Amino acid sequence: MAAENQPQAVVFVIFGAGGDLAWRKLIPALYQLLADRWLPERFAVIGLGHAHADEAELRRRFRQGVDQFSRQGPVADAAWELFSSHLSFLAAELDRPQTYTDLAGKLAALDQEWDARAQRVFYLAVPPQMIEAIVRELGRARLARDRSRARVVVEKPFGRDLSSARALNRTLTQVFEESQIFRIDHYLGKETVQNLLALRFANTLFEPLWNRGYIDHVQITVAESDGVGTRGHYYDHTGALRDMVQNHLLQILCLIAMEPPVSFTPEEVRNKKAEVLRALRPLPAEQVERFAVRGQYGAGWLEGEPVAGYRAEPRVASDSHTETFAAVKFYVDNWRWQGVPFYLRTGKRLPARISEVSLQFKPVPHQTFPPEAFLDPRPNRLIVAIQPEEGILLRFVSKSPGPAMRLAPVLMQFYYREAFRTPSPEAYETLLLDVMRGDATLFMRADQAEAAWQALAPLLEAWEAVKPVDFPNYPAGTWGPEAAEALLAQDGRSWVMPTFLECQMCPEELALCRVRVAPG
Ligand SMILES: NC(=O)c1ccc[n+]([C@@H]2O[C@H](COP(=O)([O-])OP(=O)(O)OC[C@H]3O[C@@H](n4cnc5c(N)ncnc54)[C@H](OP(=O)(O)O)[C@@H]3O)[C@@H](O)[C@H]2O)c1
Repeated sequence: MAAENQPQAVVFVIFGAGGDLAWRKLIPALYQLLADRWLPERFAVIGLGHAHADEAELRRRFRQGVDQFSRQGPVADAAWELFSSHLSFLAAELDRPQTYTDLAGKLAALDQEWDARAQRVFYLAVPPQMIEAIVRELGRARLARDRSRARVVVEKPFGRDLSSARALNRTLTQVFEESQIFRIDHYLGKETVQNLLALRFANTLFEPLWNRGYIDHVQITVAESDGVGTRGHYYDHTGALRDMVQNHLLQILCLIAMEPPVSFTPEEVRNKKAEVLRALRPLPAEQVERFAVRGQYGAGWLEGEPVAGYRAEPRVASDSHTETFAAVKFYVDNWRWQGVPFYLRTGKRLPARISEVSLQFKPVPHQTFPPEAFLDPRPNRLIVAIQPEEGILLRFVSKSPGPAMRLAPVLMQFYYREAFRTPSPEAYETLLLDVMRGDATLFMRADQAEAAWQALAPLLEAWEAVKPVDFPNYPAGTWGPEAAEALLAQDGRSWVMPTFLECQMCPEELALCRVRVAPG
């Protein structure tokens, strides 16, 4: 990023500073950015919380959050004191006009003290129903007026369906211009997700194969082993489709399927992603079961421990119909992808926390070798590993050592951690810095958010109209309901075991020949 994009002075205003997001993500990321010298000297964080919030307690909680969640782990006293000197608080009710008069005064005072016109980032780390009031009050207090320096960050979920997303966009654009609005999806800040752009558009190698001629199908898995934890109340009103598919999984699909942008600028990249969403074949309302499967976990076992079913989780209705698992098949109706299915699945209480994209290539058109030459026949596959390790893996067939022509799959592996030996930034670090620099490439534009909801609308409606009769339908610790297997089996395919797990389960002496890749 060019030096001229570095802001000279920044104020980062967190609405909902006492909440979980500020504690676990925002403050640790800001701490890390300051520690790594990405932030200017003239930098301030203003936390806004309830009027009853206790500042000393909030500071203690922030430090504990940084100790626990920042990339560098527990912080030294001196480093904390430095960061802490940039923090201040405004105990205030977020729906009262006086709060914004006070905030405007504080911001003006900082500008005066610094003799600068600081960038102002308004981060809405609040429940979605608070957004409208905050945006309205920011507008009334004239804090959004300066287009070049006021920015607002809106968290997911961005609405809960197409009409609420449209309403939210209207609310935001009444006060802010689109260029000031940053709809965040933290998945897009992950190194490998960004690297998908590099892999595809900085190499000639893959592009000729990246189409219906060579790719049989694509699988996108975002699996969580956690249950809902303390967020049962939120999750029970949301479910897997809204919480994960509408944002993370569809955004990954866009990066896999998009056409090459002319340049790496926010509008070019986002135009190409929006085209993919527009090209998604509408799910047929009367036949959604052929394209999608929902599930909810019951009691089961994970890592040798018994775990409760979803309906027994705190703050979840005991007769809840909320899906904790969703699998959806999409087609992208354009020249490149005609007929290639994209299978998406996500769920809670699955066997491991793993995110992976697998592009499976078609078999060779004519088999030169006799069937007995293959020790372990498997298709070529390109794997984009997102979690827990970030990397790219390529599986192809090789001759096994020995006098006979024996063929076995091998795996070429590139892992960020091994190859570059420098820790990758946390997704929130990357994205917060992008907001401060005004770079919206990795953020969702209004039309993208709406198109993603539109793609899911038939499914949301069908699932809401007909309550599931078989919930819970998968035990915790398994890969979801049986119907998810049937979804692929009807096409003669099956879900792949995520490669990271497959490798972990494969003892070293049996391991497929693995080739490590280091920077060239
Ligand atoms: N937590 C995550 O990991 C995560 C991940 C992705 C997206 N998000 C999104 O980020 C947003 C925030 O999530 P969260 O988990 O941080 O929620 P949270 O823990 O409920 O925090 C919300 C904060 O807003 C404060 N607040 C609410 N109404 C207020 C009012 N009228 N005046 C003053 N303060 C008020 C709350 O204060 P009190 O606690 O005192 O009521 C609380 O500190 C949500 O939209 C969520 O969907 C969160």
